Amino acid sequence: MAKANIVGVCGSLRQNSLNREILRLGLDMVKAKGHEAELLDLRSFSLPLFNEDIAGSGTLPENVSLLKNKVRSASGLIIASPEYNASISSSLKNAIDWIFVNDNPFKYKVIGLIGVSTVWWGASRSLSHARSIFSHMGSYVVPSQLALPFAAQNFLNGKLSKEYQDTLANVVDELIMLSTKLER
Ligand SMILES: Cc1cc2nc3c(=O)[nH]c(=O)nc-3n(C[C@H](O)[C@H](O)[C@H](O)COP(=O)(O)O)c2cc1C
Repeated sequence: MAKANIVGVCGSLRQNSLNREILRLGLDMVKAKGHEAELLDLRSFSLPLFNEDIAGSGTLPENVSLLKNKVRSASGLIIASPEYNASISSSLKNAIDWIFVNDNPFKYKVIGLIGVSTVWWGASRSLSHARSIFSHMGSYVVPSQLALPFAAQNFLNGKLSKEYQDTLANVVDELIMLSTKLER
């Protein structure tokens, strides 16, 4: 089987982000299956707010180009999307718009979605919006997704409860299966 190269992006900038913690579990699963995985931590990219004037000026900010290159060379992505007021975070949308602009490296890229929330919504509406955005850009979003509600009960001492652990494994399996099958 070809080797997958999966990058992870978390839409929360919070130091103790639950989404980032569970994204790391997903990336560890990718590595445990013999594939490559890397967290692209948006906090270290310090992206400016998206501005089409900058995008159209011919020279993108260095960190934008770096992030775009990382996504371009990946075979797939895990996106961890927190939910703020029923949608994806502004940080995630900002990063998506920068990565997309000019050459859309998301096209034909395989995407696995996870969302973690402290309340009963389980970030499910943010995942619906994320699915719609990535589909619009021509990505292949895998059918399984992890929408985890009540993180205080379902994610204890760094471990997911069984049903959510299995769902995360399904997302990872589908991501690897599809991304290694597609020709680059
Ligand atoms: C301004 C604000 C709005 C929120 N809105 C929602 C929401 O609509 N749905 C939801 O499931 N959680 C909502 N939450 C709770 C987040 O899911 C929770 O803060 C979560 O831990 C954020 O992700 P993180 O731990 O990765 O930073 C909201 C939190 C804040 C601060």
